[in-house]
Amino acid sequence: MEQEITMIDNFSSDAAFDSLYSLRAQQLSSIHWTPIEVAKKAAAYLTGGPAGKNILDIGSGVGKFCIVGGHIFPDHIFHGVEQRKALIDEAIIAQNATNTPNVHFIHANFNELDMDKYDHIYFYNSFSENLFHYKPIDNLIDCSEAIYNEYLSLFYEILEDKPSGTRVATFHCDDNYIPPSYKRVQHVTGESLKLWIKQ
Ligand SMILES: C[S@@+](CC[C@H](N)C(=O)[O-])C[C@H]1O[C@@H](n2cnc3c(N)ncnc32)[C@H](O)[C@@H]1O
Repeated sequence: MEQEITMIDNFSSDAAFDSLYSLRAQQLSSIHWTPIEVAKKAAAYLTGGPAGKNILDIGSGVGKFCIVGGHIFPDHIFHGVEQRKALIDEAIIAQNATNTPNVHFIHANFNELDMDKYDHIYFYNSFSENLFHYKPIDNLIDCSEAIYNEYLSLFYEILEDKPSGTRVATFHCDDNYIPPSYKRVQHVTGESLKLWIKQ
């Protein structure tokens, strides 16, 4: 009897992509991980400039943005920094399962990175867990308003230090996270994705 082998295209839908992850990570997806269509748009923008091949996702979670971006834009390198080791482990499993070599996950706090190594930045409001506790990822990380303020001012400083032409994509973020030296190039009404460029 012939056996039928069905290949899943993991990039065809959020459900197909999320099936790469543990059940727990799948349950967190709609709140904590970037939807595929948003990741595609953000990655297209961040890779679309004349210079700079290194894209950084600050707080990369299970790696969804980096893997989707890396899959579509193989000439760029997508780096993800994530403070939770368990999420890095899930990200690497998904990276291997999708055979996406141009992705690099770093288990660290973003405040330990040398930001000069990265040209353009993706940011899905990663520090908000310090203020809002709805459906938390886990309870293993200290969260507080003081930590939120510390991280947000460092993020602001990092953006201010970047050269002209630096591209930033934010998802579900207030405009005041971004220094005035950045111009917003696009924001589709009803979408929470905002695209910025340093003047
Ligand atoms: C909203 S999730 C976004 C995940 C991923 N960027 C995506 O879009 O699918 C935010 C992630 O940021 C991580 N995070 C928060 N603060 C961080 C920090 N200081 N350094 C590194 N990662 C951090 C959290 O652990 C969480 O996984």
